[in-house]
Amino acid sequence: MTNWMWILIAYLAGSFPTGYVFVKLFCGEDIRTFGSGNIGATNVGRRMGKKWAIIVTIIDMIKGGMVLVLARSMKVEGSSLLALMAFASVCGHNFPIWLKGKGGKGVATTFGVVFFMIPPYSSYAALAAGIIWYGTLKISRYVSVASIASLFSLPLIFITLKMDSSHVLAVLSMAFLALVRHKENIKRIRSGEENQVGKK
Ligand code: G3P
Repeated sequence: MTNWMWILIAYLAGSFPTGYVFVKLFCGEDIRTFGSGNIGATNVGRRMGKKWAIIVTIIDMIKGGMVLVLARSMKVEGSSLLALMAFASVCGHNFPIWLKGKGGKGVATTFGVVFFMIPPYSSYAALAAGIIWYGTLKISRYVSVASIASLFSLPLIFITLKMDSSHVLAVLSMAFLALVRHKENIKRIRSGEENQVGKK
């Protein structure tokens, strides 16, 4: 299999719009017309409850990560190729061909691909970023702030762990992509209209 084929497979795996599919199947609605309009787990949680938010998070994390596991099991070892595949999966989630490019913000998918990118160190980094996500959520009560803060912690953790520069670049790109995708959340925070967890 060529490198481009692996990148395409990673993109396609990431492009499965889990939240959109579940809300369509079980509520008959387009999640993009509800709440924040995002197809991600947070917005699915607003529509379908916490249990479904957790299920969507897990699937969104696993979908890209599994391709990395498969690639490694087939002896795809190129450090830069795995980094590119990880980024392609996040792009798949954010810009899925099936939804004419209108996808999510890539937070859960980033956590998933980072966890499986280059274990065990990238898995430690994903877990540490998960703790930062939780801590930031507890303090700020904004899921979006927790997401942005935790994704920007990844390049710093990678540098601390002396990870390959292609992997540092990949997680930095994912963090900046997430920042751009949270543009509307940032506007809402500034105008005081962003939802805060635990507040009506
Ligand atoms: O992971 C997405 C989260 O950071 C924000 O989701 O629905 O509030 O835009 P949402």
